Amino acid sequence: MDRILITGALGQLGLEFIKYFKKSDTFVLATDIRNPHEKLSCEFEKADVLNKERLDLLVKKYEINTIYHLVAILSANGEKNPFISWNVNMNSFQNIVEISVDNNIKNIFWPSSIAVFGTDSNLDFVPQNPSMNPETIYGVSKLAGEKLSSYYSRKFGLDIRSLRYPGIISTDTLPGGGTTDYIIEMLNAAKNKSDYTCFLSKETRLPMMYIDDAIDAAVKLMSVERKKLTISSSYNISGFSITPSELEDQIKSRGFNIKINYKPDFRQEIANSWPKEIDDSSSIKDWGWSCNFGLKETLDKVFS
Ligand code: SER
Repeated sequence: MDRILITGALGQLGLEFIKYFKKSDTFVLATDIRNPHEKLSCEFEKADVLNKERLDLLVKKYEINTIYHLVAILSANGEKNPFISWNVNMNSFQNIVEISVDNNIKNIFWPSSIAVFGTDSNLDFVPQNPSMNPETIYGVSKLAGEKLSSYYSRKFGLDIRSLRYPGIISTDTLPGGGTTDYIIEMLNAAKNKSDYTCFLSKETRLPMMYIDDAIDAAVKLMSVERKKLTISSSYNISGFSITPSELEDQIKSRGFNIKINYKPDFRQEIANSWPKEIDDSSSIKDWGWSCNFGLKETLDKVFS
């Protein structure tokens, strides 16, 4: 039976994984550097993944055999302090690897991101293996993690599975400090009947995915036999792509009278180096990925 550790558990993905695993009665130990506002439906321990000794003790105490390592400083926040970002993103990754090797834990899920690509990655439709020259520290750390995943798989037989997530849309749980966050901010502004100033230009097309698809994809990827997987770094995965002005039209066509201003800031440059569309054919072929929530289904959920 799975006994799962989730790190960074109070973030956008973590809280949704906790909800998901509750349905199946899987044992979950959630950790984060802060305490939850409300009681969680699983065990919780306040812990910093940079403190390897403490995490190792928790892994032993709760007999963990699977790790969802979600700790990360996202793209926009990362640019404000690249050194802290590298330290958190990479040293937490390295600690998880060391703890896994020491405790014979083979199964790890670790999200990568569309931030691993760069302007020479054929951004109109990014293949699984283009040249990758990420332009943010977040992207550099995610790409380093991908390379290390392949290396540790060869070296120690670790089975780190990973998805290059696009922007994730959830309205219950919020992201923090990403470049794709505008979509959630705009949707929440519409719901709250307030105006919104978008930090990206109208025509910035970026790939997005509804949270339920993001969670289902990870759980499905984790359940597939390793021999079916041809990629040991991270899989491209795609939902739908949209620009802020298309989202504005969609929101207005649903009867929301929202005023949107456009005032691009430093995040525009980040978005310019990210994909518009993603080729996820390897995910479809290797582990049967299929997206359930296109734009319409996502907006139906958000406004339901
Ligand atoms: N949502 C992330 C970000 O914007 C991308 O992985 O940083």
